[in-house]
Amino acid sequence: MYTKKVMDHFSNPRNMGEIENPSGVGTVGNAKCGDIMRMYLDIDDKGIINDVKFKTFGCGAAVATSSIATELVKGKTVEDALKVTNKAVVEALDGLPPVKVHCSLLAEEAIHAALWDYAERKGIKIEGLEKPKSDIHEEEEKEEIVY
Ligand code: FES
Repeated sequence: MYTKKVMDHFSNPRNMGEIENPSGVGTVGNAKCGDIMRMYLDIDDKGIINDVKFKTFGCGAAVATSSIATELVKGKTVEDALKVTNKAVVEALDGLPPVKVHCSLLAEEAIHAALWDYAERKGIKIEGLEKPKSDIHEEEEKEEIVY
């Protein structure tokens, strides 16, 4: 049911934990399954994500998607991190069962929420970044039609 990559990131999550004095933090949840994901970003003066950590209270797929999402955004510019969609997260894991796709959406939203917090703290606007939802539940309903 789960790919090797999912099992690997679930069993050995990368970048789990938190960052003291982060540049931005984002927490999102899904009211339907009750899972919560938090992302911490450390961003330097050039807008490069030097470090990223996550904490996830959630299912195994949510842990795996958080873990791979941190690897996908680490070392990237803020602009490039914004392009890490839930589709990219699913692809990097070599796929997720359809009923678990919403878990990857949580990862995308958590990154966006942390970037939003970073922009607010700095008083800047990040092109293409919309105010994140704290509950992805509604979005997921729409997404499910697509998948
Ligand atoms: Fe909700 Fe995985 S079941 S995030």
